[in-house]
Amino acid sequence: MDRLSAAARLMIVSDLDHTMVDHHDAENLSLLRFNALWEAHYRRDSLLVFSTGRSPTLYKQLRKEKPMLTPDITIMSVGTEITYGDAMVPDNGWVEVLNQKWDKKIVTEEASRFPELKFQSETEQRPHKVSFYVDKDKAQTVTQKLSEIFKNRGLDVKIIYSGGMDLDILPQGAGKGQALAYLLRKFKSEGKVPTNTLVCGDSGNDAELFSIPEVYGVMVSNAQEELLQWHAANAKNNPKITHATERCAAGIIQAIGHFKLGPSTSPRDIKDESDGEVKSIDLGHEVVKLYLFYERWRRAEIDNSEIYLSSLKANCCPSGFCVPPSGGEISLAEAINQFRKCYGDKQGKQFRVWVDRVLSTEIGPGTWLVKFHKWELSGEERACSIVSIIVRIKDASDHTYMHVHETWLEGFGANDGRFWI
Ligand code: GLC
Ligand code: MG
Repeated sequence: MDRLSAAARLMIVSDLDHTMVDHHDAENLSLLRFNALWEAHYRRDSLLVFSTGRSPTLYKQLRKEKPMLTPDITIMSVGTEITYGDAMVPDNGWVEVLNQKWDKKIVTEEASRFPELKFQSETEQRPHKVSFYVDKDKAQTVTQKLSEIFKNRGLDVKIIYSGGMDLDILPQGAGKGQALAYLLRKFKSEGKVPTNTLVCGDSGNDAELFSIPEVYGVMVSNAQEELLQWHAANAKNNPKITHATERCAAGIIQAIGHFKLGPSTSPRDIKDESDGEVKSIDLGHEVVKLYLFYERWRRAEIDNSEIYLSSLKANCCPSGFCVPPSGGEISLAEAINQFRKCYGDKQGKQFRVWVDRVLSTEIGPGTWLVKFHKWELSGEERACSIVSIIVRIKDASDHTYMHVHETWLEGFGANDGRFWI
């Protein structure tokens, strides 16, 4: 990972379904809370890793459905595929490792003799992963029989049962834990082992993550029986593993606080940001607060007060301009005037805003370029713009927005003439 020039302060390695993503939370509030925390306090110097059982196809589908951040590293198909960055550049070194003592043809052939096993969809059959559904009561016997057969055929495979229904067959050296160990070795060779690593999971295929030495771990409150049983049998006395009392992403936030790994209060949980003394300015945090204010203003969750707007205006350069995604340009002062009129236009409606990939660069003494993706969910519709802001920083309590430039992210433009900021 070249984005960070030094070791990450925190690396979070999280499962997605029922861990980062709560499928029972229609409003995705815990995920949005995590997102705000990550972009405000961690994105700058930490690494976010998603580790999912999903294939690239199903992973991309989930990203379309849920307000997920862009991870630095994506581990898919139960630790058999590792990719880097938004472009999802594959790690070919990992593929080499997995080819050892693996023969997908033999695995498929032998497993298809078991009527108890039902093939999962074609998208979930990957070069180093063959996946089935199996009933809970049959899982153990089938696993034992299969292990025996593969051994006799000279293959070294790993069989993992998850979620009380999924059975995955992988090369022995694969799996979420092995993939993480591989990454940690890679970081070590670059002299960039993260200061802290927190693994997060809920089901059987996550168990391995918790057995990697040195890492902190959180089993979310809604963890599956098979993971809790694994923990009771193998890691009960490890003080670095906790069972959260909160579900999914809220459990991850809770664990950050429990292990004191850094800030653990999401900006979404702070109602009045004017409270508290400002010690130093963090542009990531400022951007998160700005768009939370924008969301709350339009949802009428804060007072319709000029105080907020005048403090925003005070932070804008009087001769500053803004280029909205639809083109043209207007002064920052005019943009605020237009914004004023939008108070409460999303009251009682589904409307959420979140920022992703907030990165700041000092482009001159005291002058910063902040770049990020701004997402808006309005009803069923999603729009995203790429935003660049030039900010001048004088001191901790004095920063000025000089210029704002927005352009639609390809394929995610809004065409309803909605307001922008
Ligand atoms: C995901 C994958 C599936 C796998 C399961 C458990 O649901 O789509 O193929 O069996 O995770 O690892
Ligand atoms: Mg899961």
